[in-house]
Amino acid sequence: MEGRIVLSEEDIRRRLRELGEAITRDYRGKDLVMVGVLKGAFVFLADLVREVDLPLEVDFVAVSSYGADTVTSGVVRIIKDVDLDISGRHVLLVEDIVDTGLTLRYLMDLLRAREPASLEVCALLNKPAARKVEVEVKYCGFEIPPLFVVGYGLDCAERFRHLPYVKVLESGDAEDALSGENGKEGIGGR
Ligand code: IMP
Ligand code: MG
Repeated sequence: MEGRIVLSEEDIRRRLRELGEAITRDYRGKDLVMVGVLKGAFVFLADLVREVDLPLEVDFVAVSSYGADTVTSGVVRIIKDVDLDISGRHVLLVEDIVDTGLTLRYLMDLLRAREPASLEVCALLNKPAARKVEVEVKYCGFEIPPLFVVGYGLDCAERFRHLPYVKVLESGDAEDALSGENGKEGIGGR
């Protein structure tokens, strides 16, 4: 099913180039660690790091899943921590989407306690209308209305992450995804 495409491959490519330029400008001469939030940010991070023209290191964190649901339980749990020592380094947390803000708030508090030199957020998508806690998103790809979207790393019950574009999830899509084994609560499924 095609669904309504919100962001085409070209939209994403163009915006990532701009984000990469901004990050390159802001972090020049700094010890940069880009930390992707699994699983959703894996595609975004992979494309974004190739637009940053600086030496940098990459790491990942994983947090607990919404499972098959499309609304947050509000409970965030860390499943995989960073491997690198981030103290005194400039950390850029890379997220697929900021919705309620609960995930980011949790991760920011966790990483801030390690005393990085700086800690900022880069998110492909931002749904400000769904926010429950304030979080500052310094680098934002696109603001979107509070719709559930999939593709380019974003899933519904683990499906659709491989789509090269972002589209609105439609009811037929959700039924297809939830009818399979993938509908179960999983690890790092965000
Ligand atoms: P938050 O904690 O509510 O901000 O949720 C952030 C996480 O929820 C993201 O990392 C996504 O994995 C997931 N999420 C929120 N909105 C969507 C969506 O529209 N599509 C797919 N995943 C979403
Ligand atoms: Mg998810």
